[in-house]
Amino acid sequence: MTARPLHAGAPARETGTEPEARFLRACRGLPTDCTPVWFMRQAGRYLPEYRELRSRYSMLDLIRTPDLAAEVTLQPLRVFDFDAAIIFADILPPLIGMGLKLDFVKGEGPVIENPLSRALDIDLLATPPATETLAPTLAAIRLVATELAPRGIPVIGFAGAPFTLASYAIEGGGSKHYIKTKSLMYREPSAWRRLMVKLVTVQTDYLLAQAEAGAAALQVFDSWAGLALGREDYRRFVQPYNEMLFGALQRAGVPVINFSTGTAAYIDLVAASGGDVIGVDWRMPLAWYHERIGGAKPLQGNLDPVALLAPWRDLKFQVDAVLQSAQGVRGHIFNLGHGIFPDTPVDAVRRVVDYVHEQTAR
Ligand code: CP3
Repeated sequence: MTARPLHAGAPARETGTEPEARFLRACRGLPTDCTPVWFMRQAGRYLPEYRELRSRYSMLDLIRTPDLAAEVTLQPLRVFDFDAAIIFADILPPLIGMGLKLDFVKGEGPVIENPLSRALDIDLLATPPATETLAPTLAAIRLVATELAPRGIPVIGFAGAPFTLASYAIEGGGSKHYIKTKSLMYREPSAWRRLMVKLVTVQTDYLLAQAEAGAAALQVFDSWAGLALGREDYRRFVQPYNEMLFGALQRAGVPVINFSTGTAAYIDLVAASGGDVIGVDWRMPLAWYHERIGGAKPLQGNLDPVALLAPWRDLKFQVDAVLQSAQGVRGHIFNLGHGIFPDTPVDAVRRVVDYVHEQTAR
């Protein structure tokens, strides 16, 4: 099955005349003909065509070869009626340019061979411009934006938020309790500040370069702050740097999505730190987040990604609950509450995307 044809014109900033894509309208809180849909990690291992390419190339080769990254980005757009593409990349490659040795190890996920352990390591980190160290991703964005312009589908650029990146740089990989990261934060607050400022510098430059290359929206992933930190720690050690990042990104001239998980306990602080759209996880209903944030911003989310593995009856029930809860929200972008899992059935994805469009058509 192929994607249904066009439902929107090219992004307004391309020509100034075509109708704006429904995803971008929702980002601005404007009415749409139906609710836009895309899924975090929509390109990846649940797609057989991705697994085929991945069997021939390493993760970093896919990311660093613009034609391949563009191809992987477009794969889900060929089979589902998604309203946005997200550039195929990862949040971690910017750490390579800063001096960390990153690899994606089968069965283990990302591993950093030389994690930061002392203040000196932080002072030795470089802050090179994205055009020097991340040029292939910028080139891939240009390719995808050109390819999707006739279909009126915007490309989303993305990067990791400073805490989430710092946690990988310090722990050397994924973590359960973030003990090394939090120890550094508590014991060496000035080194922590220097690290966060360096990350803000690199990520701001990278995201602005992505917008420059043709990304029509930007998403910042703060995947792990909410799992690691309580409210006061978020306020002291994370929020100031997220404020710096989102403040600087206003210059991009495109909507910015502020996504995090596990932050229900302080979603008000998360939203106050910036971004035009707040991306929320599946742990509380959208209406609850809406109220806690004060109702001012469009929301993106928040189907539990594991619901895609449930039988249609249960899955439909959960999709209906998300749509129901979104009714009072001005600007809803339907998405998962976190990234899609590799064992997700392709058919469930197709069904949900089409169902959301049908149910919300106005
Ligand atoms: O959404 C998309 O389709 C774009 C691609 C994308 C990837 N990673 C590709 C990827 C995006 C947006 C990311 C973001 C990312 N990467 C995050 C934030 C989002 C989140 O889920 O919280 C994080 C924390 C990472 C770091 C990372 N990259 C981990 C922990 C892993 C290993 C775990 C896993 O899911 O495999 C990766 C590897 C990775 N990034 C894969 C893909 C498709 C799998 C690599 C493979 O093919 O072997």
